[in-house]
Amino acid sequence: MSRLLRIKPMSMLSQEAGEEGEHTLKRSLGALNLITLGIGAIIGAGIFVLTGQAAAKHAGPAVSLSFILAGITCAFAGLCYAEFASIIPIAGSAYTYGYATLGEMVAWIIGWDLVLEYAFGAATVASGWSGYFVSLLQQMHISIPPALTTTTGNVLVQYKGAWMDRMSLPPGISDAGLPHVTGLFNLVAMLVVLVITTILVIGIKESANLNSAIVIVKLAIVGIFLVLGIGFLIKHPELARLNWHPFIPPSDGHGQFGLNGIATGAASIFFAYIGFDAVSTAAQEAKNPQRDMPIGILGSLVVCTILYIMVATVLTGLVNYKALNVAAPVALGIDVTGVSWGSLIVKIGAVFGLGTVMLVMLLGQSRVFFSMAKDGLLPKWAAAIHPKFRTPYISTILVGVVVSFMPAFLPIDRLAELVNIGTLLAFTIVCAGVWILRVRHPNMKRPFKTPFVPAVPILGIISALYLMTKLEIITWVVMIVWLLFGLIIYFGYSIKHSKVQALPLASDGD
Ligand code: ALA
Repeated sequence: MSRLLRIKPMSMLSQEAGEEGEHTLKRSLGALNLITLGIGAIIGAGIFVLTGQAAAKHAGPAVSLSFILAGITCAFAGLCYAEFASIIPIAGSAYTYGYATLGEMVAWIIGWDLVLEYAFGAATVASGWSGYFVSLLQQMHISIPPALTTTTGNVLVQYKGAWMDRMSLPPGISDAGLPHVTGLFNLVAMLVVLVITTILVIGIKESANLNSAIVIVKLAIVGIFLVLGIGFLIKHPELARLNWHPFIPPSDGHGQFGLNGIATGAASIFFAYIGFDAVSTAAQEAKNPQRDMPIGILGSLVVCTILYIMVATVLTGLVNYKALNVAAPVALGIDVTGVSWGSLIVKIGAVFGLGTVMLVMLLGQSRVFFSMAKDGLLPKWAAAIHPKFRTPYISTILVGVVVSFMPAFLPIDRLAELVNIGTLLAFTIVCAGVWILRVRHPNMKRPFKTPFVPAVPILGIISALYLMTKLEIITWVVMIVWLLFGLIIYFGYSIKHSKVQALPLASDGD
């Protein structure tokens, strides 16, 4: 039992954090790079796609309240991540924090769980990306076979010249008599994952620069949407009054609408906030991690929360929530303003913007595997650094290829639920870890301190668990099966090859 609880000594972590040289990652990211890395990871399919679904299916116009609820949960967790990232600036995120505090088995569980967040997260975004990309091509009258733009077995119908999911038809329009096609697999989503993987293999510096440029584009798109949308609503207040009424549609008793719908909506759009924690996975590539990691994590979270609440409010004012269950809801919203170039700009921005999210997610995933392999919990080749590009190329390629298959066959809402449950679990463990570390090592140097411990970690745990209870049973089952599968690998391989297990027992106590 004590073997499972072995922790990675702080001295070993600090030594790794200070490592320099040919076989380590390049330290090239400053505070602004990290904030943009965060925004690059955060603003994505959540706001551009899932907001529409959450409004149509769960919360109605009150989806903006769902964003507040999910944002509060993330703020608690973000404060805890920031403390950890400032103490342990090592690639690997929650996995590393768990290793330093809760023991090797919990660390393994988090590392394995983070696959749900990063790998499945990249897959979810690829799915959302393909929706915007295909819609953009359709607007430019470029057609690709519709059967290669959606998941296996999903039926698309043709309405007003565009192929769309049956469920996305405007309210009151029946699919009877419309041309239809059954999906083979989503080739578009698959290809985009492979392109991003290639960029990541070439290098972090190039990727970070590309990311900064695209984040500016993405913020500009959100800005244009807000300016046009608010301007239109000021001129047509009767439209907003109509669409925002009732603000909280009555409950159907099944987690749709009513107060419960707001909570279910929060659990589903929680996805929109994921990414600030990915900043922490780049700690080893930060120039001054102790100062800059908290700035990167909290700064990106604050910017995005404000924007989300505004976008959700304006979007549900422009379009009735019942009509928002479409692949490109923000573009639909801008169409209402009558600005003809608006939706084209939004789609182009989303196509580039969602690209950066996939980039950070895939980067995060390969870095978690990198850390696990360095600790001996995964085979050595997963930590191999390319001699020229100095990136963990083998894990990057492996992750990219596996991830490319997920959106090809699984629909976006299923993928997003899995990401949400995996991430919420990681949040609860990180919050618990901060608290435990304060008790065990009260005098440790903490460049950033989470305020009001233990209140903040406890509220973080409670709010994350609460949102988890709002996810579907099948999502819980898949997560549990996934974690059990991980434990088989842990007991079959990792525990026998772990470097920490090879240390003398006394080193745990430092
Ligand atoms: N928060 C990211 C998104 O919404 C994962 O795409």
